Amino acid sequence: MNDIETKIDQYLEEQSNLDLLRFITCGSVDDGKSTLIGRMLYEAQLIFEDQVAALTNDSKRHGTQGGDIDFALLVDGLAAEREQGITIDVAYRFFATDHRKFIVADTPGHEQYTRNMATGASTAEVAVILVDAKAGVLTQTRRHSFICSILGIRHVALAVNKMDLVDFDHERYNEIVRDYEAFAEQLNFEQITAIPMSALHGDNVVERSAKTPWYHGPTLIGFLETVDAHRSLTGESFRMPVQWVNRPDRTFRGFSGTVVSGKVAAGDEVRVLPSGEVATVDEIILHKDTLNGAITDQAVTITLDRDVDCSRGDVIVAAKDACEVADQFEVNLVWMDQEPGHHGRSYLLKTSTTRVGATLTDIKYRYNVNTLEHLSSKEIKLNDIGVATLSVDRGIPFEPYGSNRSLGSCVLIDRYTNATVAAGMINFALRRAQNVHHQKLTVDKAAREALNDHRARVLWFTGLSGAGKSTIADALEQNLHKRGIRTYTLDGDNVRHGLNQDLGFSDGDRIENIRRISEVAKLMVDAGLVVLTSFISPFRAERDMARRMLDEGDFVEIFVDTPLEEAERRDTKGLYAKARRGELPNFTGVDSAYEAPENPEVHLHSGEDSVETCVQQIVDYLGLG
Ligand code: ADX
Repeated sequence: MNDIETKIDQYLEEQSNLDLLRFITCGSVDDGKSTLIGRMLYEAQLIFEDQVAALTNDSKRHGTQGGDIDFALLVDGLAAEREQGITIDVAYRFFATDHRKFIVADTPGHEQYTRNMATGASTAEVAVILVDAKAGVLTQTRRHSFICSILGIRHVALAVNKMDLVDFDHERYNEIVRDYEAFAEQLNFEQITAIPMSALHGDNVVERSAKTPWYHGPTLIGFLETVDAHRSLTGESFRMPVQWVNRPDRTFRGFSGTVVSGKVAAGDEVRVLPSGEVATVDEIILHKDTLNGAITDQAVTITLDRDVDCSRGDVIVAAKDACEVADQFEVNLVWMDQEPGHHGRSYLLKTSTTRVGATLTDIKYRYNVNTLEHLSSKEIKLNDIGVATLSVDRGIPFEPYGSNRSLGSCVLIDRYTNATVAAGMINFALRRAQNVHHQKLTVDKAAREALNDHRARVLWFTGLSGAGKSTIADALEQNLHKRGIRTYTLDGDNVRHGLNQDLGFSDGDRIENIRRISEVAKLMVDAGLVVLTSFISPFRAERDMARRMLDEGDFVEIFVDTPLEEAERRDTKGLYAKARRGELPNFTGVDSAYEAPENPEVHLHSGEDSVETCVQQIVDYLGLG
């Protein structure tokens, strides 16, 4: 190997040995974020390219091929984000200095949407929070800082930018730092390093500025090169989510995944969650090699000494220090969707290991991001940060986000649009979930159905106010009653006088209205009844929720379809007229949405057909003749 090849090798070796810091830059549109990132990349690139150029020249002189440098290793850190399959508008840029490699999460675009910011922050160790020296600390600065804090970032550089516009005034700088620190006191940062800067002119970015003689701290790059931020948010105990079960033939069964915390060695006792089964680690395999052990971040295949129930999405953990399995949690939520999150609505919850149905059982409060005061609320809107409780369809292994980012984070997904609507950080499992169990009763639905001599189910009428739901339901109930069928009708107006008298007609209240009705209908079906429910039930999500609560085939959706003009023409209760006069806000069909069923079991055309015809159509569907 000649001299220059050795040099290149040395250089690459140095680069790959440099440790890697992930950071995020946050700021409002005009705070100068792009300029700052541009400057850092430019200056760092110069350093980098200078060296590469020198090497290349040397190579040429010595007549060897020096251009064959593998830059890929420099961006390897990015694969993980891509694999998560979350496509969000975050650009990850790479640069390096002599001391460190950096990946900066850059969230471009005019709209500094929380979504992008939160995604970038979720893998960052440090945040650079930009403040315009003229504008001072803004709501957005506080919001971004708060999100960084709940996403586990502990080190912050407060970059007081555009100092040139305030003549590098020390007093103005102090004022901003004091203001920020007063707010940040309530957050979980370990260290805040304030730096007076001008990204545009390069003051205190890489080079120390002569214009801030009163400042004795590090430059921004100096800070980033030296900050000790590798306090990882991964606990000590062994955890490995199973990504896939490796079964090439009958004789081999290995569990493949990445160790997200702790370490494991052959002979260790492990527990598989959620089943709870215990086994001993037989072998740890990496490609074709057998290892003695594996540590955090290593992707390996593990074999166990006995057959256990373990599939994709399960988590293998240290037997003596297993994590909890729970189905109800308190979480911090950062809401990222235009459509607000509603108390009572059902979503899909995706964790690093699995996907499961989840209901937003309570929105405890939203934060006022300026004061961090708690605001009581039934909904959580775009860019809101709040605390909520979630109930998931089955128990999942988890750890609080504060001790394990991987097993403590989740996203909520809209069941229909598939959009990621919120990022969640698990705080803890709800006690009530641990102490309330299902009581098995001997006389069950099947027994009651047998006694009644008919099956129990829900006939769910949905349609606009005035479409004829209650009239048709009433006629149908008489018909069924005459046949000896045990029935009960839950009617919107009636139930709103009792059980749901606390609810109005906001989206949130309608969701809660239908959620309660669904639960009551479910109990009544269990009691062996044919339940007729007559509610506008305008939202698809809640009708589908009711369907999911019941056994297959027990939910019969009956769409009482009358054109709005017809319902309005009838206006039996005079409410459309009131709504049009503006005296009744949120009236369905006027200024509140009705989402028509897409595949109802029964589709009635109550605008054209008589009540008798409609009833007959349902009777036919039910096979009663
Ligand atoms: S739902 O949307 O939550 O399903 P529900 O069926 O319980 O509504 O109640 C609808 C009935 O409440 C209507 O038939 C009407 O009599 C009355 N009502 C009063 N205000 C409204 C409103 N803003 N929108 C719709 N219905 C209203």
